[in-house]
Amino acid sequence: MAAFPFELKATDGAARTGVLRTPRGDIRTPAFMPVGTAGTVKALTVDQVKATGADIILGNTYHLMLRPTAERVKRLGGLHRFMRWDRPILTDSGGFQVMSLSGISKVTEEAVTFASHLDGSKHKLTPERSIEIQADLLGSDIVMQLDECVAWPAEEQRAREGMELSARWGARSKAAFGERETQALFGIQQGSTFETLRRESSERLIETGFDGYAIGGLAVGEGHEGMVEVLEYAPAMLPADRPRYLMGVGKPIDLVEAVARGVDMFDCVLPTRSGRHGQAWTWDGPINLKNARFAEDESPLDETSDCPASRDYSKAYLHHLVRSDEILGQVLLSWHNIAHFQALTAAMRAAIAEGRFEAFRKAFRDRQRK
Ligand code: GUN
Repeated sequence: MAAFPFELKATDGAARTGVLRTPRGDIRTPAFMPVGTAGTVKALTVDQVKATGADIILGNTYHLMLRPTAERVKRLGGLHRFMRWDRPILTDSGGFQVMSLSGISKVTEEAVTFASHLDGSKHKLTPERSIEIQADLLGSDIVMQLDECVAWPAEEQRAREGMELSARWGARSKAAFGERETQALFGIQQGSTFETLRRESSERLIETGFDGYAIGGLAVGEGHEGMVEVLEYAPAMLPADRPRYLMGVGKPIDLVEAVARGVDMFDCVLPTRSGRHGQAWTWDGPINLKNARFAEDESPLDETSDCPASRDYSKAYLHHLVRSDEILGQVLLSWHNIAHFQALTAAMRAAIAEGRFEAFRKAFRDRQRK
């Protein structure tokens, strides 16, 4: 029995809309999870994040185990209480962040060992330790298995090794997690850009049995077209009755194309990170508020939005804040971008429910190209 009921409300082609029901609240899909790496969605209060319509946020094992440590978070009542977010939290397992952040790391059958990017101290993550940190110490609602994401491009043999290790780590993660009623465990499909490897990965994960299934190893340099090529087959290999989560993705256009191919959940640092660098995502595509053409533009980023950051401030003012390196510029653009990503997933949910997703997708693409 899967921990959380997943109720599919409607499908339109391969696109789906539904609700993943958790004890801390419903997650409406397609869902975008703002990234709250170190116990904060950077620059935003939890009340601001909530007001954008986010049902769930993401936290990171890698960062929290190093600082303030998972044990300290546990002593302080768990991650929800510590950061004052009472809705669901999904935590990533750590291996991917080791690869992208720590520089020095070593992967063996047993574990990934690495040097902290903060102080160089040595640490070890086994699949079992990652489960303990996420499920027992941080108190995550959706726990991810430890996996190995191989760098792109990869030779098929190297991609196979990473996929097989991830499958074995998936089985160890499941054994350590056991059966729980109030927390869910997701497996992670790997296999780089090789269809046969993605299929074998899926079969092995399904054999182990998870509450949901992620697609890993994408958005690592293959580009939009390369990713879409994999999404032509990868989501359909995963069980239709469980949520499918595309990790670390992406731009609005990536979300739309992935939803068209059967993906339900996403996370990405893009809206917050690019917001801190002056970029705003809009229905007409991305713009950079540093640009001189906004110096006297009195229009807001999105007058149709009910997010104050999108609706109430002029581009001219945002331009001034960004040019002056004012902290409020980072706050308002992060807030607007998260609200925009939530508006995008809400629009996709409505379009699927009303059987007009193809028309939505075409209109979205046409408008972004302007
Ligand atoms: N975030 C983005 N891609 C990945 C991946 O392949 N594995 C994990 N664990 N996290 C990710």
